[in-house]
Amino acid sequence: MSKKFYITTPIYYPSASPHLGHAYCTTLCDIIARGKRMRGFDTFFLTGLDEHGEKIQKNAAAKGITPQAFVDGVAETFTSLWSTMKISNDDFIRTTQERHVKTVEDIFSRFVKNDDVYLSSYKGWYCVHEESYWTETQVGDEHLCPECGRPVEEKEEGAYFFRCSKYLDRLLKYYDENPTFIVPLGRKAEMVNNFIKPGLNELCVTRTTFDWGIPVKEAPGHVIYVWLDALTNYITALGYGQEDDSKFKNYWEDPDCEVVHVIGADITRFHTIYWPMFLDAMELRKPSKVFVHGLMMMKDGKMSKSKGNVIPVPPLVEHYGVDSVRYYLAREIVFGQDGQFTPEQFVERLNADLSNNFGNLLNRTVSMIAKYYGGATPEYKGDLNDLDKGLHEVFNKTIAAYEVMSDDLKVTESYAAVMELVSAANKYIEESAPWALAKDPAKADELASCMQHLSSVIFLAGMLLSPIFVTKSEKVFDQLGVPADKRTYENACTFGSTGGLVVCKGEQLFPRLDVALEVEFIKNLMAAPKEKAAA
Ligand code: MSP
Repeated sequence: MSKKFYITTPIYYPSASPHLGHAYCTTLCDIIARGKRMRGFDTFFLTGLDEHGEKIQKNAAAKGITPQAFVDGVAETFTSLWSTMKISNDDFIRTTQERHVKTVEDIFSRFVKNDDVYLSSYKGWYCVHEESYWTETQVGDEHLCPECGRPVEEKEEGAYFFRCSKYLDRLLKYYDENPTFIVPLGRKAEMVNNFIKPGLNELCVTRTTFDWGIPVKEAPGHVIYVWLDALTNYITALGYGQEDDSKFKNYWEDPDCEVVHVIGADITRFHTIYWPMFLDAMELRKPSKVFVHGLMMMKDGKMSKSKGNVIPVPPLVEHYGVDSVRYYLAREIVFGQDGQFTPEQFVERLNADLSNNFGNLLNRTVSMIAKYYGGATPEYKGDLNDLDKGLHEVFNKTIAAYEVMSDDLKVTESYAAVMELVSAANKYIEESAPWALAKDPAKADELASCMQHLSSVIFLAGMLLSPIFVTKSEKVFDQLGVPADKRTYENACTFGSTGGLVVCKGEQLFPRLDVALEVEFIKNLMAAPKEKAAA
């Protein structure tokens, strides 16, 4: 049985220019997807844009251009950011594409035919920003959106409703039978207590107050609610309901394929309540997991242009390199929890883990193999002493931990484990003291063993880090002298596979950063858009 994996990011609203927060979610998904591919999974990784809705229509009008021209422009900014971050998505879905629009129309017609939706009228408190209706209780006396805090307006319109009541039991059964459907686990209780227990209303799924959306064929003047339109991207991108549906069959329809949606906490309700119900109505399987990551905040709260605290990604990547920025995102902010970006932590994390720990291990090892053996890495001849045994054990444990944790999407923890292996190897150098072994001819075997153990660890660490180090892992392998066709996960996991390789000392991959200078540099980057906006 082949191992299959389908991972998606939310499709982003092209309403603003993307920032480090958007890059965070997509980069983490990219790291997960690359990790699975490295381990031989048949992987499909999707991202894209959610291009319909009132907000986009309003933004376009404010600029005096058509909504399509508006979203086309923003789409370029997003694709350019993904290329800067070296995102390896297999497809990029835009909800204005014909493949999507046509399929959503058909899905809606099916819902009408099966009486999953019905025509009625809706009155409620509407938040334009969230494109959501709220009840009287939810908006409170102040009439503020419970999601974003903005003022809501009272509205009434003719609308279609989706019969949530028809699918609620099945949803709860799915929750029960799949305890890890919503991760982190606390998010499930939130959904049940805040939305399901108080009584789930039927969901309004069309709008008549604007027209930038997919039209309802059965009722002119109605467009399909942006969330029904948006969520289906996860299957339309695979070809569901289209002539070529081979990807849909290969991934979605294979019950053994793990289907994972990664989202921010703000959109959990739509992914864990309504999306499974829509899928039930289509008689399709549900996702295996919805993983809810936290928000990346700044010291003064959410990133926003008006606050002038937005980190523009391209100059950050240009200055520190894409590998370092990706590493920071994966390692510093625990995946699944909220985190805060500070320039100090950014620089310190890169110095501690990449320069002092990993970079140092690589430099020392390659220099010693060059010095003691003219560059040829000694063969593995077993573990000669307790120190060898200890490091070999950490090597094996790291592989097991990495696999289990990355399958559980514990990305941060999995890389903490990789860095512990690297620390263990640095400690092993101190304890083995190869410089002393080199002076004693009776210790020649131990010296050779020491070099072999170090080189095996670096090969493994370089490989496990390759989903993050999209450029520098290759340079690590160059320095170890691993031939291109031997740079595989299996080889890296085989202790001793570096025996006989000829090292090649190269540039320092992660030079140490001057904390004060770099903090200043990042603070200036944050200030730049504010000045621009004011100018
Ligand atoms: N279009 C909807 C999603 C539809 S999915 C079928 C949407 N788009 S969004 O652009 O507003 O936000 C999408 C996602 O961007 C969030 O869920 C979150 O994953 C990510 N983030 C936006 N800002 C972020 C941070 N500051 N930090 C972390 N993630 C952030 O909602």
